Amino acid sequence: MTAAASDRTSAKTDGITPHGGRLVQRQVSGQEATELGERARSLPALRLNARQLCDLELIGNGAFSPLTGFMGPDDYERVVSEMHLANGLPWSIPVTLAVNEVDAPVVGGEIALLDQQGSFKGVLQVESVYSYDRAREAREVYRTEDPNHPGVAAMLAQGDTLVGGTVTVVDSPATPGPYHLPPVATRAAFAERGWRTIVGFQTRNPVHRAHEYIQKCALEIVDGLLLHPLVGETKSDDIPAPVRMRCYEVLLAGYYPADRVILGVLPAAMRYAGPREAIFHALVRKNYGCTHFIVGRDHAGVGNYYGTYDAQLLFDQFDPAALGIVPLKFENTFFCTRCGGMASGKTCPHTESDRVSLSGTAVRAMLREGKLPPPEFTRPEVAQVLIDDLRQTPVA
Ligand code: ADX
Repeated sequence: MTAAASDRTSAKTDGITPHGGRLVQRQVSGQEATELGERARSLPALRLNARQLCDLELIGNGAFSPLTGFMGPDDYERVVSEMHLANGLPWSIPVTLAVNEVDAPVVGGEIALLDQQGSFKGVLQVESVYSYDRAREAREVYRTEDPNHPGVAAMLAQGDTLVGGTVTVVDSPATPGPYHLPPVATRAAFAERGWRTIVGFQTRNPVHRAHEYIQKCALEIVDGLLLHPLVGETKSDDIPAPVRMRCYEVLLAGYYPADRVILGVLPAAMRYAGPREAIFHALVRKNYGCTHFIVGRDHAGVGNYYGTYDAQLLFDQFDPAALGIVPLKFENTFFCTRCGGMASGKTCPHTESDRVSLSGTAVRAMLREGKLPPPEFTRPEVAQVLIDDLRQTPVA
């Protein structure tokens, strides 16, 4: 059996060029998907976990262009050691399919990819099966071998063998609904609005005033804003995606001009790889059609594994033309009572004691008690969404 879909190039080529020159979509729908599923019944099957399913959807919908599937050894090696694909394009995070050696399929064959419930998701043409060094990947990609790092922990928990190959994916988004906007849809929406410059905003946390400030600073210099919360797997103590989406809904309703903002989800898993993930987040947003990308303090970081501005510094190691998307770098921002507004160390001469800064832990404690944090930190409407959610959630 051969894969049902050849690479699909976006019919519309408006806007910024996708990474590698064209949007590579590996998904099929309707009759084609039905036929693929029927044919796949005779194939050996592999059940993918939540993280692998995220990657599969993003390969399918073109967000991971130019990838056509899970990485083989040449791409993997070069990405881990040099942050580039074998063809020389920048790429900072391995996109791999790990299995246990005993379950490894045969090279040259095909396997059916299923979700945890056994639903058919796609077919993988097995082009390579190879071993890898998890400790090395941890050091290179995550800058730590600490098993407490959530990205390292997820990698250590996965199989010891990688399977590479092209995929054909059934178009069945994990997050259907109004915010499901694959790259073709965001690109079309930007073109429809006549936006030529668009800034993308990655986030995994509930929106707060610092987020709003840097989004709006960025929006002052571009045509449109793509608010792009990551809604795939995150660590268990991060706020669930549906709650974060409700926060955005109330914020947008009250404080953003509707004709300048698009809210859509990124169905990706969070790696917490800090600097390397910032590059990856930017390249993926380029595929969604963004020309600019916000990189603030400790982007995609966790704990104290990365320096506050390491993610911003990593962009300087790449040829800007090869990246093809412009990072907009923001210092740590806060509300300054003497300035009477949001500011950063670049724009505010006052001292720490003049600034409204609260730790995440302190904010959570207030919310849990049903108290609104200062409005200079979080909009009351947003805080209320979080309070309502916490009231329904048992204390861990
Ligand atoms: S992240 O893991 O997705 O980076 P988060 O949702 O908190 O976490 O951050 C989203 C974006 O906002 C990132 O670019 C981050 O660097 C930036 N950011 C968050 N808080 C601040 C802040 N107080 N000042 C400047 N940038 C910030």
